[in-house]
Amino acid sequence: MENSSLPQDSVFLGFDSSTQSLKATVLDSNLNIVKSELVHFDSDLPHYKTKDGVYRDPSDNGRIVSPTLMWVEALDLVLQRLLKSGFDFGKIAAVSGSGQQHGSVYWKKGSSAILSSLDSGKPLVDQLGNAFSIKESPIWMDSSTTKQCREIEKAVGGPLELSELTGSRAYERFTGPQIRKIYQSQPEAYNDTERISLVSSFMASLFIGAYACIDHTDGSGMNLMDIKQKVWSEIALEATAPGLKEKVGKLAPAYDVAGHIASYFVDRYKFNKKCLVVQWSGDNPNSLAGLTLSIPGDLAISLGTSDTVFGIATDPQPRLEGHVLPNPVDTEGYMVMLCYKNGSLTREDIRNHCAEKSWEIFNKFLEQTPPLNDGKIGFYYKDHEILPPLPGQSLDFLPYCI
Ligand code: XUL
Repeated sequence: MENSSLPQDSVFLGFDSSTQSLKATVLDSNLNIVKSELVHFDSDLPHYKTKDGVYRDPSDNGRIVSPTLMWVEALDLVLQRLLKSGFDFGKIAAVSGSGQQHGSVYWKKGSSAILSSLDSGKPLVDQLGNAFSIKESPIWMDSSTTKQCREIEKAVGGPLELSELTGSRAYERFTGPQIRKIYQSQPEAYNDTERISLVSSFMASLFIGAYACIDHTDGSGMNLMDIKQKVWSEIALEATAPGLKEKVGKLAPAYDVAGHIASYFVDRYKFNKKCLVVQWSGDNPNSLAGLTLSIPGDLAISLGTSDTVFGIATDPQPRLEGHVLPNPVDTEGYMVMLCYKNGSLTREDIRNHCAEKSWEIFNKFLEQTPPLNDGKIGFYYKDHEILPPLPGQSLDFLPYCI
């Protein structure tokens, strides 16, 4: 889309659909923030009864999911908040967003018809209540699919072979092992699924009123895509579940236009009907794009619910640790990443246990000790960690807390 063809006062609406919240930010063409609104899942949508935006299932070791409908309801709520603030949706030239990576949504057979005929007089949540064959979406924090990981790795010739093909060995949170678990444990629901979306392509689907493609970058967080060819890998699909190719749909570049905004949003929020929806992608790839990382060797650190370290590479060699993804903005290049599960929630827990819930006190304690604490360093894993794969433990035991 050429900038010159846009009206002067055009603005752009971006979303961050993350583990704990959905945030909407409006930018002008100079990248100034015009407006932003946030829906915090636990406090703004308490009827879903999530903690940190998720359900931790005590009866199924390591199973962590989020209610799919909560994300749907959050979208209407955040748009309502923008509307109430007097914001003119008609100025938005394009919409796009970031989704927490790896989380998956299972659209029930017949749902594409519901999606394409949404009634703008009713909230989305009232219309999509019956649209999902699995009501609780597995998310990136899940670690319950070790069995499926080993099965998939075995079927493609080993963990290194899978890593060379898809950019990563099988990881519990990756969507392929999650799909295999659903196929094995809930075969009827799997058969009743007409499309599997990632959180990113799911949100884009709501906006275009049709199934949006999975983008090449977020697609590489599934253990299903050939990262060099940027096509689904037949062998990985077969190793995961039968009939999967049809259910995952097509792939597209992260910067492609997914379509025009659906009439639901034009009628309900008064978006311009020419407003474009650009493919959504994963939160980490979008951070790489936003930080404009362009020099191999430069690294970025993201401290969020998860902590990640990432950079770019021209000729990456996938190994048994870490991930290789296509670069979301440079079609020839790649992105390399490490991900740690014990990020903000673990830091906050330690702050709450040891520093009276105050970052100021936490910082004061830090300043009282020399950098690196004379070599005495502890690593605390509240949740089952990804790297290294160690079990999590309640932090109540912390001995030295005041
Ligand atoms: C990346 C990962 C997390 C999520 C968090 O592989 O699992 O960083 O993207 O939203």
